Formats: sequence, structure tokens, C-alpha cells
Amino acid sequence: MSGHELAAVAQAMVAPGKGILAADESTGTIEKRFAGIKVESTEENRRAYRDMLFTAKGLERSISGVILYDETMRQKSADGTPFVEVLAKKGIVPGIKVDTGAKDLALCPGEKVTEGLDNLAKRCAEYVKMGARFAKWRAVITIGADTPGSTCIAANAHALGRYAAICQAAGLVPIVEPEVLMDGDHTIERCEEVTEWTLKAVYEALYLNRVTLEHSVLKPSMVISAKNCPRQAGVDEVAERTVRILKRTVPAAVAGIVFLSGGQSDEVATAHLNAMNRMFAGRLPWPLSFSYGRALQQPALKAWKGSAANVAAAQAALLHRARMNGLACRGRYSPDLETQPLAA
Ligand code: 13P
Repeated sequence: MSGHELAAVAQAMVAPGKGILAADESTGTIEKRFAGIKVESTEENRRAYRDMLFTAKGLERSISGVILYDETMRQKSADGTPFVEVLAKKGIVPGIKVDTGAKDLALCPGEKVTEGLDNLAKRCAEYVKMGARFAKWRAVITIGADTPGSTCIAANAHALGRYAAICQAAGLVPIVEPEVLMDGDHTIERCEEVTEWTLKAVYEALYLNRVTLEHSVLKPSMVISAKNCPRQAGVDEVAERTVRILKRTVPAAVAGIVFLSGGQSDEVATAHLNAMNRMFAGRLPWPLSFSYGRALQQPALKAWKGSAANVAAAQAALLHRARMNGLACRGRYSPDLETQPLAA
């Protein structure tokens, strides 16, 4: 792909009022999600679940791209059409998770580094042939009493820089995802400090690896209180602190920012995104959108329960969440819209 094409893909991924559906759960992760609804994680059940998501009518109104997992990339809809084609026909850009997971970081207890650089160029070339136009790599940073350390930040930033360069050379737009986990009891102030440090290191690594920022998308976590922190910051505080740190660390050339939900409830994740777009409308160099996994899929998964009879209800639940988040991209969401039916 030429530079122009990469730029066009990156722009399409963050088109106004649209965001990305992260449906790239690894086999291990989807098994956990299915366990929650008591559905066995067979290849056919995983296929049927993704079929339900991708064939939801009108999904393209608020979804610009979908992140797939290797197995899903090779699967087909019930009528025999490959999923990649199902999405492309709707004008939804297909993407692929290319990391092979976060593994223990040697000599750094409790910390992880994401693997998958070996053979990455070759794997990217195959995904491009199959129709993928962007990729995703997730790094995880754990906040604890003595973590993160600089070894963890440097190792993860380096891997993200190498990954992004390899993707661009292969013709894929990289989604650069450094996730600061919300597990634990740390304060929002500590999350802010660690997020700033992480993003500074990530953009230095992208520069060292010659990554073209205009052809990349950032997928950060929000600056938020940890799950078990006694003081839970409110929506406006999360929005203010998150945007402050992004302004300090993310170059204006980056095509767009799409947040992960990271364990926030679906409505809270929507409210946070909406507050940022409402408070900072017209004053930011990049669009702020979403690339939610759980916060988009949770209600649909619960409605589906593994049964073909529930497909329509599950799709309605997905479309509703997608629409709420699409509105949040424009700062036009409000909680009372949650109970309004989808307009025809
Ligand atoms: P969540 O929104 O559930 O955090 O998932 C997004 C994702 O792609 C994590 O890598």
C-alpha cells in the first residue's frame, strides 16, 4: 500500500461518529467470555458468535473497523462468505491482532512484555493478502507497589515501535495499544503519572523506529481510578485528566485516538468518551473515538447465550451500544438515550 492508501485507511478508521469493534479475543479469552454465558468454546460456536456480530444490519453506521483474531480471519459467514468480505462489503475496514500475547518479563516479577515480533513481517504479508488493512498490538503495564519499572516500560515501548514499523512496511496501519491496567487499588493520580510515562516512551520508540505517525492510530487506556481504589473519580475528572495527558504526549500528526474499555462497564465507557468530546470539542488535534471489546459486546453476548433463536436480540443489543458510542464520539450522548429504541 502506498503512503496515501495507508493515510486513507487510518482516516477511515477514525471517521466522524464511528469507532472500532474489537472482536479479536484470543481462543483463551473468548473461552472465558463464553464461560460467563455457559457456552462451550468450540470453533463453530466462536464462528457463530462472530457471525452474529458482523452481520448485524446497519453496523457500519457507527462502526468503521473490526479487529479480528487469526482464526476468525479464516472463518466464513453461514452463507459461505469469508468474514473479511462480509465486513468489506459494508465498508467496514477489517483488521487483525498480530501480537501473540503478554508474557512474563524475565527478572521483573509481576510484569509483562508482549511477544510476537518473530516472523511478524511474514505474517503481516499473509494478512494483507487475506484483506486486512490494519493491525493491533497490545502492551500491558501493571501498576503495583513497585511497578511498573523502567525495564517494563522500555521493553514494551520497543516492541510497539518495532511492530508499528513492520506493519507499515507491510502495508498495514498499526494500532498502537499500550494498556495501563485498572487492576489494583492505585489512585487516579498514580494512573495519570504511569500513563504519561508510558506514552512518552512509546512515542520515542515510534520515532526511533521511523514510524509515520499520520499512518498510525493510538489505542490508550483512560486515566482512571483503579477498580479497588476507595476514591472513584467522576466522569468529568476522568475526561480532564485523560485529555491532559494525551495533549502532553501524543503528537498532533497521529491520525486518531481510539480508547479501549479495559473493564469499565459499557455505559461508563460511553459516558467517559462523551465527556471528552463534549468538553474539548474543536480544541484537539486528533479525533477521539473508541475501540471497545467488552464495552461493545457484553450486552450482545448476554442476549445471545449461544442460541440461534437469540441472534436478532443480540444484534439489537450490539447496534444499540455501537450507536451510543457513535454519539459519544460527537459529544451527543446522554444516559436517557439508553432507553430509546433505534430509529429506522
Ligand atoms: P476491551 O475494550 O474489552 O478492553 O478490549 C479492547 C481490546 O482490544 C483489548 O486489547
